[in-house]
Amino acid sequence: MSFASDPHPPDPEPPPLANSPLAGLPVGPLHALRHFLQPHHLPARLPSPVKWRFSPLPRVTPVSTHPFQDTMSEQYVHWFRNSAPYINAHRGKTFVLLFGGEAVNHDNFHNIVHDIALLHSLGIRLVLVHGARPQIDENLAEMGITTPIHNGLRVTTRESLRGVLDAVGSIRLEIEALLSMGLANSPMFGAKIDAISGNFITAKPYGVRDGVDFGLTGEVRAVDVEAISKNLTNHHIVILGPTGYSTTGEVFNLLAEDVAVSAATALKADKLICLGDRDGIQSNDERLLREMIPNEVDQYLRGKKLDSELLRHMHAASEACRRGVKRVHIISYARDGALVQELFTRDGSGTLITHDPYEEIREAEIEDIGGMLELMRPLEEEGILVRRSRERLENEINHFVVIERDGMIVGCAALYPLPSDERNPASGEIACVAVHTNYRNGDRGTELLEFLEKRAGNKGLKKLFVLTTRTALWFIEHGFKAASVDDLPTERKQLYNYQRNSQVFSKAL
Ligand SMILES: CC(C)(COP(=O)(O)OP(=O)(O)OC[C@H]1O[C@@H](n2cnc3c(N)ncnc32)[C@H](O)[C@@H]1OP(=O)(O)O)[C@@H](O)C(=O)NCCC(=O)NCCS
Repeated sequence: MSFASDPHPPDPEPPPLANSPLAGLPVGPLHALRHFLQPHHLPARLPSPVKWRFSPLPRVTPVSTHPFQDTMSEQYVHWFRNSAPYINAHRGKTFVLLFGGEAVNHDNFHNIVHDIALLHSLGIRLVLVHGARPQIDENLAEMGITTPIHNGLRVTTRESLRGVLDAVGSIRLEIEALLSMGLANSPMFGAKIDAISGNFITAKPYGVRDGVDFGLTGEVRAVDVEAISKNLTNHHIVILGPTGYSTTGEVFNLLAEDVAVSAATALKADKLICLGDRDGIQSNDERLLREMIPNEVDQYLRGKKLDSELLRHMHAASEACRRGVKRVHIISYARDGALVQELFTRDGSGTLITHDPYEEIREAEIEDIGGMLELMRPLEEEGILVRRSRERLENEINHFVVIERDGMIVGCAALYPLPSDERNPASGEIACVAVHTNYRNGDRGTELLEFLEKRAGNKGLKKLFVLTTRTALWFIEHGFKAASVDDLPTERKQLYNYQRNSQVFSKAL
């Protein structure tokens, strides 16, 4: 990504963050990202999330010559560039965000709504699922009604339903208002967003369990996937509350977790993100656990009552993974920026629960090309890799393998079969081995090479060549031996670029 060739005039705005609500805050990925994505840099509404790339961003020219501000600008550029692969990886994906009424009451909620607007601007399809426990409690207390709670679930009587509906309705209105009023006093001011809520959830009664009649408490029976998807495609944010209607027109009080898991599953969402009062899941010695698999979550929950938000979120996470949602994140609603940090930085901010290996090495697909180009362009600009156009990559995609980590391409490499001649009846060329700078020195380069060597063996190739300008030692350490241009198969030798003057290495398989 380069701003240098951008034809737009220099940005007339003040230096980054001055005169903004973020002025004076510590520099970091969150603030850099928020600043660069202010609406004066972005079109108010993106015509199509898929078509939008970096071109709408005007060139950012440093206005100040003050050394401190220059350093800050450099850091913004650095953070923004590091975020770019994540932005591309998330565009067009569907995320379901779950948060309770406690989050809505929290001082940080305004920032969360702002970050939701930011994600929306980046082409992420968003479904917000909110709870309303404290607000319902408050309403019922005012009405002088007490409702029993069994196993973390409220018994909803007919007389308490009004208090439930009022609380759910007012939260929905609050979120809609915050999103649609253009987020005054925030860097997203002017980015008007259409939020939609509706009759999207069909419910059924929870019934009588353990001898307790739960009354108008229900569970999700169906999700209107078509209607929600249509709204998401029309660039609306969809809001789902913890209520649903039965086929007979009765309203039921639902668990927000149930709504979120059902919606995420039915919509085949890419992520379910649960915002709770903790940073994530902690080990016994109070370390934040970065990654867990559903089985570990189940073990953690064994024998425990789901009587806290974290435990309910963990249960929802395990359930969602089992029902096919690839990734569930448990993060904090109280910490400013936790959502952005989780989605746009390498280590995130909370706990990721996933069935999949977090990272996998696999054959490349056409959809990976955007991510591969992100990875390869800086190395091409440095002259380390030979420049490849998008068209060329499309034609040669079958030769490539990639390492995908949480939806982002962090490594790639190619194996090209070479035309045979008398000296080299069956040989191939390893090319374009690249690992994202943030992920180097973790054996990924070695894994890519081993993967391709196995692939070459399966294809019956006997020898591998590699042409490199700067990575000779690395290949030698991986068993390659110095060779010469004359050792290459004749047809490949004819294509050798003498100006580039790469060193040739080979390895017998
Ligand atoms: C070469 C590259 C793919 C290695 O990826 P990686 O995931 O870091 O690889 P590994 O973790 O398996 O190996 C890391 C080791 O290789 C070393 N290494 C990395 N690049 C090297 C280079 N150019 N020359 C010599 N050694 C190198 C590292 O110092 C590290 O050594 P250490 O374990 O002793 O600290 C990565 O550095 C990269 O993308 N480089 C830029 C692109 C490139 O040069 N590609 C090859 C052209 S085809």
